[in-house]
Amino acid sequence: MDIQNLKIVFDQKIQAIQNIEKLNELKIEYTSKKGLIQGLMQEMKNLSNEEKRSFGQKVNEFKEEVLKQIELKEKLLKQAELNHRINNDKIDITLDSYNFNRGNIHPLNLVVKEIEDLFISMGFEVVEGSEVESDFYNFERANTPLNHPARDMQDTFYINKELLLRTHTTAIQTRVLDERETLPIKVICPGKVYRKDDDDATHSHQFMQIEGLVVGENLSVSDLKATLQKLADKMFKNGREIRFRPSYFPFTEPSFEVDVSCHICNGKGCNTCKNSGFIEVLGSGMVHPKVLEDAGFDATRYSGFAFGLGVERIAMLKYGIDDIRNFYVNDLRFNRNFKRFE
Ligand code: DAH
Repeated sequence: MDIQNLKIVFDQKIQAIQNIEKLNELKIEYTSKKGLIQGLMQEMKNLSNEEKRSFGQKVNEFKEEVLKQIELKEKLLKQAELNHRINNDKIDITLDSYNFNRGNIHPLNLVVKEIEDLFISMGFEVVEGSEVESDFYNFERANTPLNHPARDMQDTFYINKELLLRTHTTAIQTRVLDERETLPIKVICPGKVYRKDDDDATHSHQFMQIEGLVVGENLSVSDLKATLQKLADKMFKNGREIRFRPSYFPFTEPSFEVDVSCHICNGKGCNTCKNSGFIEVLGSGMVHPKVLEDAGFDATRYSGFAFGLGVERIAMLKYGIDDIRNFYVNDLRFNRNFKRFE
């Protein structure tokens, strides 16, 4: 085939090419060592010297032309590919973003967090325990020996004779007392607790408590009262009135049931406080000397106060919830209401 025809065929072929791979194949076909142009060179040996010169020149010109066109086509193809990508990959910034459905903190955890934050700001440490607890720390160390009548109220789920699902966060208190050697102790202990209880609108066999414990020198009921006043102001509304009623717990002496003036009616009387003007919120007292002595502290020198509150109860009062079961059924229509309190 003469050069003229080769050129025509090459022009046709290169025009039809649409991608880089095919272009590379064409380049190999024409310019490689075994390619068409090299084939033309082979024919030189049959020519006279005169002819060789002009033929060689033509072949070289053709080769240059082929390389130039391939280079040009390569640029065009790359540009076309880039344009294609730009058009297809483009981001429409006017589109709405994905509406991620972010969850929210459960109301009970909201209350725990709020109380933790308050006590941390007063220099307390947060300590957690284990839900499976020993009879020893749950009862014995809380001055509630076997056959003590106070055990009746806190009958629970036993794993065996020694192990049970803790009935109160006081079990964390007794462990802290046992483990610490230096004073003062200032801890707050949140956690789940279990009891044999009727499941109704205000009771559940599983609920949450927060225990508070302070042990040191020169502590008295006034320290307890001032601490609980802060708690009441923070959890309900500033200016709450606190009322102590005598009570009994084996691990405190004296013991108190603590009421807070109603945050709805300011003490005038309403449905929430059952017209009494006060709401019962927690149990508390001065740590019983026996509890301190059992843990190795000299009760003639050191004293302490403690309290235990029900998280559900605080949350129900704070958010006006009338059935405790709302906390446990995981109805998102209920849970989502608390996003705004985060
Ligand atoms: N543990 C008690 C209960 O669950 C609550 C309680 C009362 C805790 C007095 C205390 C306390 O720390 O001093 O009923």
